[in-house]
Amino acid sequence: MKDIAVVGVGYVGLVTGACFADLGNRVVALDIDAARIAGLTRGEMPIYEPGLEELVERNVRAGRLHFTTSYEEALRSAEFVFIAVGTPSGVDGEADLQHVRAVAESIARAMTRPLVIVNKSTVPVGTGDWVADILRSTQPKPIPFAVVSCPEFLREGSAITDFMSPARTVLGSLDADAAEKVAQLHLPLRAPIVITDLRTAEMIKYASNAFLATKISFINEIANICEALGADIKEVASGMGYDPRIGRAFLEAGLGYGGSCFPKDVLALAYMAAEKGRHPQLLQAVMDINADSRRRIVERAQELLGALGGKTVGLLGLTFKPNTDDMREAPALEIASRLLAEGAVVRAYDPVGMPRATTLLPEVHMARDAYDLAGGCDAVIICTEWNEFKNLDLQRLHDAMRQPIVVDGRNIYDPAEMASYGFHYRGVGRGYDLTREKALA
Ligand SMILES: NC(=O)c1ccc[n+]([C@@H]2O[C@H](COP(=O)([O-])OP(=O)(O)OC[C@H]3O[C@@H](n4cnc5c(N)ncnc54)[C@H](O)[C@@H]3O)[C@@H](O)[C@H]2O)c1
Repeated sequence: MKDIAVVGVGYVGLVTGACFADLGNRVVALDIDAARIAGLTRGEMPIYEPGLEELVERNVRAGRLHFTTSYEEALRSAEFVFIAVGTPSGVDGEADLQHVRAVAESIARAMTRPLVIVNKSTVPVGTGDWVADILRSTQPKPIPFAVVSCPEFLREGSAITDFMSPARTVLGSLDADAAEKVAQLHLPLRAPIVITDLRTAEMIKYASNAFLATKISFINEIANICEALGADIKEVASGMGYDPRIGRAFLEAGLGYGGSCFPKDVLALAYMAAEKGRHPQLLQAVMDINADSRRRIVERAQELLGALGGKTVGLLGLTFKPNTDDMREAPALEIASRLLAEGAVVRAYDPVGMPRATTLLPEVHMARDAYDLAGGCDAVIICTEWNEFKNLDLQRLHDAMRQPIVVDGRNIYDPAEMASYGFHYRGVGRGYDLTREKALA
């Protein structure tokens, strides 16, 4: 059993704290957001993540998990402190490190015993050294510490499983003993552990996210070509995915990547490269294709509906992916603003995202459920592939709509089935159906 402090109780920090507590450690989780901490002490989750509430509750009850806003309290007996604060995009696309800086300064002032500082936030290469410099220059008196990079690879929506059963743990440090101690903490997870230097560990995270984003943009590029040539991207992706060198994951054509990681991380990596005089051409193309995928879905609605002014368009799903309430960089945000700019009336429904979305999209009318959303709509655009949308009563949906037009940004429906209900249906990259429809016409 170890004493661990976790700084930042967002999507990563809260899961990290609760999971380490569940593994038998004593964890104090800290945030500067007093309302967040007050809510957690009352048992209220600040985010939606399947299984999190039960996990937090169990470990609070067992006395292994506490919440605080005080660095002194969090660090009093901690041997490890995990940094899990946000690193959003800065004005030029660089990672904004203001929160990491503030945390490093606070740790330096509050620490009273030697510490292993473990960075889980996604930070530019070189940040570990920078954090160590801040610590040294801010400490009132020198107390030994080591900095270890331990990038986080969990996915919102399956964060607890991902944390507990990671594909690998990556650790980077110039201090081999510190890296070994952090490795010991992760041993119960039974995953391969890669130990390397600080900068390489930081780079592994960016390279991994950039690669996954590239896969998504690649399949969207192929989907676009499929449309033009009359092939079906779903079958192309399956046919490709059986090849173990390729793999089926991240080959879903649609609205591209969103969320709090891929967009900012690809951008930050491109920024780091450009800053050193390199030309990240592939990363640039990945970002361009991603932006196109959202634009194209609105164009498709326009093709089917004509001018959008005065038309009512429903967005089915708002969050950037299913099983999360995270609206950061959700494609639905951009799609809604494009539709509104064209003069459409926009309605929306999401199983869990509406509380956050309401403040972000004040002009969008929120519906009670998918059928309520469809009522009076000239078109519905599927923006998020929530499971509950995959088994809708399609007849009821059809009958509720003013015009039965469905633009499926996530390819969750079968074009032939949709046609059998009388929908005018368009997915992404499903050129085969266009060809067949033309042949039948
Ligand atoms: N969200 C993900 O799926 C995910 C996955 C892997 C890695 N990451 C990385 O992890 C980091 C955290 O992401 P997140 O989504 O959990 O962020 P988040 O915005 O959900 O949470 C960050 C938390 O840090 C707190 N905070 C900010 N400044 C603080 C300070 N000075 N002291 C204490 N607390 C402070 C905020 O109040 C907030 O609660 C980012 O670098 C992100 O790129 C995120």
